[in-house]
Amino acid sequence: MLTKSAVIEKILSNKISSIPARLQGEGFAAANIALSKYWGKRDTELNLPMTSSVSISLAHKGAAAEIHIIDAKCHELFVNGILLDATQPHTQQLIAFLDAFQPTSYAYRVKLRINIPVAAGLASSACIFAALVKALDQLHEWKLHAQTLSILARLGSGSAARSIETGFVEWQRGSRPDGMDSYGIPLPMEWPELQIGLCIITAHQKSVSSREGMQRTVETSPLYPTWLQKTEKDLIQIKTAILEKNFDSFGKTAESNALALHATLQTAWPPLMYTQPETLAMMQQIWALRQAGLSLYFTQDAGPNLKLLFLESDRAVVKKAFPHVEILCPFQTENRYS
Ligand code: PMV
Repeated sequence: MLTKSAVIEKILSNKISSIPARLQGEGFAAANIALSKYWGKRDTELNLPMTSSVSISLAHKGAAAEIHIIDAKCHELFVNGILLDATQPHTQQLIAFLDAFQPTSYAYRVKLRINIPVAAGLASSACIFAALVKALDQLHEWKLHAQTLSILARLGSGSAARSIETGFVEWQRGSRPDGMDSYGIPLPMEWPELQIGLCIITAHQKSVSSREGMQRTVETSPLYPTWLQKTEKDLIQIKTAILEKNFDSFGKTAESNALALHATLQTAWPPLMYTQPETLAMMQQIWALRQAGLSLYFTQDAGPNLKLLFLESDRAVVKKAFPHVEILCPFQTENRYS
């Protein structure tokens, strides 16, 4: 099994120099939510997925990274102005990622500004690792292609492979053992009327990380083989629905994919349950609205929060039913990071 460092060395072989080209690098990456999801790795070190997946980026919601070179032994990491505790597992994961890029004579000071709750199933790790890779690329003037940046971001967190580009992004599973064919590519399709509603039921950190949850599911869930077959079909159906702008097929497939994932997780052992009573109450409200004729669907990741999927023409009705919803328009460019 190849290590992350071996892949990074392969990519940057003739680009690593002891002195970075600039003193500072910056990068912004939008968060993404999967419509047909990634769950399970065929290589746990390189975050190579069992299946391809497709996502939509969350407009201005994401992470902005600023990286400076410092004359120190250890990296310093700040999130929204607060210095991270280096003993925490999340910080250690970020430090290990930075270590894999940096020659020993200096360290990095990283300032991250994130405008979504961290580790609540809102794809925060995806945008963090993608923003870090973009900032490192600028700092070192590597000038890497987006596909290569996606490969590097994937080494931090699988779903980060889909946060280098924006809009609809397909993360191709690939088949090479070194993962050089496993990266995100933007789908050349736009859907300006598509709206995403973020409903934060709880911003608390999830109890079981997706890394651990995936491993447990692959090893113990009797439904996992069926999930693999379903998600592959769902991906094709979602791409067709996007192409045909068939919103009901799009929403139905995305919702069914999320429900199938959570059913699979509940049959892992020990069981994985990200759904809270509030999540269920909201699902029932969505189903009742749909019964009454509204084209409203949801998706759910490794946390209790739901993301609503609907079209612009239903915006007012959705806002009335869910007064606290934050609505994002992935294809409207005025949504910039602030
Ligand atoms: O990239 P990770 O390890 O945070 O896993 C992401 C898992 C899901 O969000 C549930 C699904 C996905 O495809 O993003």
